[in-house]
Amino acid sequence: MQLAGKHVVVVGGSQGIGLETARLATQAGATVTIMGRSLEKLQAARDRLSHVHTVAMNIADEDAVHQAFAEVASIDHVYIAAGSFVGGKILDGSVEQFRPAIESRLWGSVYVIRAAAPKIPAGGSVTLTGGLSTDRPVVGAWVTSVATAAAEQLSRALSLELAPIRVNAIAPGWTDTPMWDDILGAAKQGAFQDVATKIPTGRLATAEEAARAVIFLMSNPAITGEVIHTDGGHRYV
Ligand SMILES: NC(=O)c1ccc[n+]([C@@H]2O[C@H](COP(=O)([O-])OP(=O)(O)OC[C@H]3O[C@@H](n4cnc5c(N)ncnc54)[C@H](OP(=O)(O)O)[C@@H]3O)[C@@H](O)[C@H]2O)c1
Repeated sequence: MQLAGKHVVVVGGSQGIGLETARLATQAGATVTIMGRSLEKLQAARDRLSHVHTVAMNIADEDAVHQAFAEVASIDHVYIAAGSFVGGKILDGSVEQFRPAIESRLWGSVYVIRAAAPKIPAGGSVTLTGGLSTDRPVVGAWVTSVATAAAEQLSRALSLELAPIRVNAIAPGWTDTPMWDDILGAAKQGAFQDVATKIPTGRLATAEEAARAVIFLMSNPAITGEVIHTDGGHRYV
């Protein structure tokens, strides 16, 4: 299934891997709708990519998700990039600080799939986002690890339940996106240099490289229940 003439919806499409997916999909001739919380970020994305539709919504708000998808007549492919890194050790602070990780990546994905799947034809697809933390957990980020594992497992389980709609996931490793500006600020470049020495490929992935995996999963009608890792082999070291 080629993407020309198809409608691709990217939830979390205003920056980073989602924005690159939207850009590659428009280049391939798809009609693209991007969703995210910030109107400012959506506007900036619309300025960068001409011809994208934008819808503001928070993936963790079930009513907002259903309202956003009610505005969309038909969908061929959905990519869910929305999700955040939530740190903290399990015995520290309150449980409340950890809930957003699960609310957005697991329940948010569930809300999107329930709203979108009835509009997706056979052979269309949903792509979820897991991450390196599934296979390579680090101290102080247990909930992010659990949330990315849940997204990856959701793709396997729903590939059967939603068939013939295809359901896959990408599992990015360290990827140079605006997410890290928010988390690391001025320390970003130093942290990137340090982590690059530990990755077998010797470099971080770009947002475009991760997005190319999403486009591949959307475009290949033989693939479902698959998780593609764009981590440069980092999960093995
Ligand atoms: N970059 C990495 O190294 C890396 C590694 C492993 C996994 N990942 C995962 O890959 C995905 C994309 O990463 P990225 O680095 O491209 O992230 P990013 O630069 O932070 O972009 C995230 C996008 O999702 C939107 N978003 C976030 N929370 C949302 C919510 N609750 N509802 C709706 N939209 C939401 C953001 O817009 P608004 O803020 O306006 O909502 C933005 O468009 C994320 O799930 C991330 O956790 C990234």
